[in-house]
Amino acid sequence: MTVHFIGAGPGAPDLITVRGLNLIRRAPVLLYAGSLVPEAVIAEAPRDAEITDTTSLTLDEIIDVIRRAHERGLDVARVHSGDVSIYSAMAEQCRRLQALGIPYEICPGVPSFAAAAARLGLELTLPEVSQSVVLTRTAVRSTRMPATEDLETFARSRAVMAIHLSVGNLDAVVAKLVPHYGADCPVAVVFRATWPDELILRGTLETIRTQVQEAGLVRTALILVGQALAPEGFAESHLYDPNRCRCESGPPPARNPT
Ligand SMILES: C[S@@+](CC[C@H](N)C(=O)[O-])C[C@H]1O[C@@H](n2cnc3c(N)ncnc32)[C@H](O)[C@@H]1O
Repeated sequence: MTVHFIGAGPGAPDLITVRGLNLIRRAPVLLYAGSLVPEAVIAEAPRDAEITDTTSLTLDEIIDVIRRAHERGLDVARVHSGDVSIYSAMAEQCRRLQALGIPYEICPGVPSFAAAAARLGLELTLPEVSQSVVLTRTAVRSTRMPATEDLETFARSRAVMAIHLSVGNLDAVVAKLVPHYGADCPVAVVFRATWPDELILRGTLETIRTQVQEAGLVRTALILVGQALAPEGFAESHLYDPNRCRCESGPPPARNPT
């Protein structure tokens, strides 16, 4: 018996991995994390699977469902939105499973920041513009941010930021970013990327609050900020440079003289 933590992807049902889908299709017990996991993905579970929406459950109650499946020798698909490596609360479940001696494996998914970048038609790492992406959030109703991880600290780098769980906190976000990125820095707010009701707002740090307010967005959106959002005049990478050595490392191998 194994518990499979599965990233379901950002919303479009065909953005789950083949592995994740196959695990769901075989799962006798399935738990999923509420409205951000598409119904069409859950519908792939076997017809007689025991299916639980964990939105209103406590951690203890979730672990109890898994423990009972373990006692019966039944595999569990534990499905989260996006990828499970960020903001999934998977770690606390894994810690409980370890303590109970229940085996688990992790199947990654497409994270929402990657889906948002795709919908914006962007590469987030542009040569000589931005080579780092900061995945972060602000604290509103959630747990405190570690003291060293405030937005201003990250903003000093002027790297691209993908700010999660914060569209309802946009005033504070903008106030912290403007001194470092400038009021004219490009921003996008992507609501429910890849869902049928997806909405994309593009603006600057100066305009974005009004745009978000007028659209009435309060949740399930990503804030992307940085110069890479307005890709103009960036350098070409060395990857496809005709003058670049294409060998794995070191100088090109000597040609065989024969
Ligand atoms: C609990 S976190 C889950 C993140 C998820 N594990 C991931 O890989 O993206 C929920 C937050 O992720 C972002 N998010 C999740 N799905 C999204 C989507 N389809 N479009 C835009 N933002 C999304 C929003 O910031 C939302 O408030």
